[in-house]
Amino acid sequence: MTSTETSVDDVQAVILVGGKGTRLRPLTLSAPKPMLPTAGLPFLTHLLSRISAAGITRIVLGTSFQSHVFEQHFGDGSKMGLSITYVHESEPLGTGGGIRNVLPELTAETVLVFNGDVLCGTDVRSIIDTHQTSGAEVTLHLVRVTDPRAFGCVPTDSDGRVTAFLEKTQDPPTDQINAGCYVFNRSVIESIPEGRPVSVEREVFPGLLAEGRHVHGHVDSGYWRDMGTPEDFVRGSADLVRGIAPSPALQGHRGEFLVHDGASVGPGALLIGGTVVGRGAEIGAGARLDGAVIFDGAVVEAGAVIERTIVGFGARIGPRALIRDGVIGDGADIGARCELLRGARVWPGVKLPDGGIRFSTDV
Ligand code: GTP
Repeated sequence: MTSTETSVDDVQAVILVGGKGTRLRPLTLSAPKPMLPTAGLPFLTHLLSRISAAGITRIVLGTSFQSHVFEQHFGDGSKMGLSITYVHESEPLGTGGGIRNVLPELTAETVLVFNGDVLCGTDVRSIIDTHQTSGAEVTLHLVRVTDPRAFGCVPTDSDGRVTAFLEKTQDPPTDQINAGCYVFNRSVIESIPEGRPVSVEREVFPGLLAEGRHVHGHVDSGYWRDMGTPEDFVRGSADLVRGIAPSPALQGHRGEFLVHDGASVGPGALLIGGTVVGRGAEIGAGARLDGAVIFDGAVVEAGAVIERTIVGFGARIGPRALIRDGVIGDGADIGARCELLRGARVWPGVKLPDGGIRFSTDV
């Protein structure tokens, strides 16, 4: 079967969005990670548009933390031409438990599962094609990366069958890592234990391999980024703005910056490096934004410099402040000439007085 013949009629998609997103705090105190604006749109919108582009319309969201936010925003999905249903876990059941928990909503025989925080360019149909062609019970999307040490590694044999599912190691035997997207035959989901936390990575996949079941790898080297840390979130957003990471939701936008409706940019302000300015945000004269992610309603005053930093909803950055590699929580107020460098995180609503924090003695 070639990819043009790939059948998605009997395919449903499940997206796991129940994580707490601790690595992205404090932004994830007020919004779940998959709802954070990325290139100005909730991250999940990019993933949903990618699934929709593959012709898959039936989608189940496995929620736990802040579940109401998803339903409020996406409703039944009809505005995007999708049919979205929601299954809530009152206690987080982990990745495997989350998949098992949505079983009552699954009517298709083939189920495509996504982690809700991965930015990826791979054609969804090609992964399903590999699954249908190989006859496997489960197919894992595996991506080749230059430094696999920070990820779970998944070696495959010459036929493409998965031979092991390894935890992070300093000496990885392969550059193929788990990309956080899987195709399951429905019967495998039925066999996941019910009603208790289960990890798909630590329990389900190793268990299937130990039983000698057919788990296949779909390997490629396309664009891939786990958006779980501030550094990756900033890079991923900039890659979307610049068109390096594809997203059907951005309708071919490609440029050094993206300014959303209702935002204003003062004279002489410089926006580069994939900077995004959210709705209603204000950028003052002469400000310099390089790889900045400015959420809706934030204010950056004149002459401020913001590099590789996320500025939360309604936050204010005072005149001539310098923020580099930072995370500024919603509604925080950073005084004039403050300097925040190297991973500084400011909690929501915190107010720093003018010149209150400096890394230099410049006036
Ligand atoms: P960190 O706390 O920063 O590690 O983030 P996280 O909680 O999102 O965990 P992780 O990045 O490992 O999760 C991968 C994906 O699985 C994300 O899309 C999560 O939303 C989702 N996820 C993690 N745990 C659960 C869970 O217990 N239930 C459900 N439904 N989804 C989960």
